[in-house]
Amino acid sequence: MARLFSGGRFSVSVAVWTCVFLIMFIYFFTYITEKTNGRLIHVRPNHLSVAYELEEIEEEPDFRLPSAHKRNPRAVKRKGPKKWSTVISKFLDESSEIHSMLFPDRSLTVGLKVENSSSSSSTGYFYPGQIWLDTDGNPIQAHGGGILFDARSETYYWYGENKDGATYHAQHKGTARVDIIGVSCYSSKDLWSWKNEGIVLRGEERNITHDLYKTNVVERPKVIFNAKTNQYVMWMHIDDGYYTKASVGVAISNSPTGPFTYLYSMRPHGSDSRDMTLFKDDDGIAYLIYSSRDNIDFHVGPLTEDYLGLTGVMKRILVRQHREAPAVFKHRGTYYMITSGCSGWAPNRAMAHAAASIMGPWENVGNPSVGGNRVLRLTTFFSQGTFVLPLPGLPGSFIFMADRWNPSNLRDSRYVWLPLKVGGLADEPMDYTFGFPLWSRVSIFWHKRWRLPEGWKNVN
Ligand SMILES: *[C@@H]1O[C@H](CO)[C@@H](O)[C@H](O)[C@H]1NC(C)=O
Ligand SMILES: *[C@@H]1O[C@H](CO)[C@@H](O)[C@H](O)[C@H]1NC(C)=O
Repeated sequence: MARLFSGGRFSVSVAVWTCVFLIMFIYFFTYITEKTNGRLIHVRPNHLSVAYELEEIEEEPDFRLPSAHKRNPRAVKRKGPKKWSTVISKFLDESSEIHSMLFPDRSLTVGLKVENSSSSSSTGYFYPGQIWLDTDGNPIQAHGGGILFDARSETYYWYGENKDGATYHAQHKGTARVDIIGVSCYSSKDLWSWKNEGIVLRGEERNITHDLYKTNVVERPKVIFNAKTNQYVMWMHIDDGYYTKASVGVAISNSPTGPFTYLYSMRPHGSDSRDMTLFKDDDGIAYLIYSSRDNIDFHVGPLTEDYLGLTGVMKRILVRQHREAPAVFKHRGTYYMITSGCSGWAPNRAMAHAAASIMGPWENVGNPSVGGNRVLRLTTFFSQGTFVLPLPGLPGSFIFMADRWNPSNLRDSRYVWLPLKVGGLADEPMDYTFGFPLWSRVSIFWHKRWRLPEGWKNVN
């Protein structure tokens, strides 16, 4: 006893501080584990190893940027380095080296048809940015698309804009466009070989007052299934050639492969609506998420039970953040969204957002792009997101689907599909948490070539 007491104050303060430290440590550890994983994960060794290869970080050499000597040093001083805009303008310039690097020609085509003539070693591999052929050997035309998994047929359906027409400018210096051809549908069991199911919603050739009249705009079609009405419901951005109509359109079908019957367009909640997406939650309630107030904010609101209209409920989210191209997904009870900035067809930096409720508040969790090089990460790999597809056999793993737009020839725009993972700490200070991360990190891993792990459908 005497011995213990002889250390007196020292021991007591050490003990107290150790306790405080331990409590803090345990608190933070539980906190982090909980926030990182939602709930406790039961890690299955085979699940880990299968998902691991999706997370490999592939680095690329940085792009060779134009030498500075051609520029007036005074101008550099005044305006700062112009490298950034140079890379983007090169990307947009058909004749540049960067452009041809990012839009590899047909000799590098991927798809079923070419396998027999070339090596079969590329079977099942995704090659972001390369021409992707359907099972008939034609380039897939499903831009700004989304995927529906039809549980009844256990088939994936990929819907997107068919842009297989001439690119032109509606007005002097206006945005590049292609007349409406319609919404394409492709089907697949393995997410790699896609069968063309045709145009499931056709553009209108003659009726100039129709929303789908060819000089109008149909973008970002998304299809969900309504279990109550047994109908496939498509929502899409409907606009005129000058983007002043800013509406959403609705179409329905009894079959995932259409034909879809066009119903009407509307301004949701009385607001202008441009880039949009749908999200169907686990409880069957579906939501419309769209850029509004001239792309300044997003709005989110639930659809009616039949998915054909909107209820009166709406929340303004990502206020004054100027985002577009939303793609929403959910993992362990948390909602996530990837958006892009607003820079027309030119690529920009993606942002991931997270929320406990889809109605918000949403918080930013940083740029999800990982690997590649700095330029790739600041341009979302020269692409713009359109959809995030869950891989149910691999919880926490998703496919990030994006478009690498080619505004000089929109039909030749490419698909950039990459593995997306939720997990780990977010790497940017959050909006409301004094810099302490509340949410898991969302990561999109760059790969020149990748495939889904063997047995990805039923790893559980
Ligand atoms: C290519 O090979 C696959 C499988 O071996 C076969 O089903 C398909 O018909 C072949 N296609 C052509 C064009 O030969
Ligand atoms: C043209 O489209 C409008 C709007 O959808 C419709 O009300 C009208 O009946 C159509 N006209 C014809 C001739 O189909």
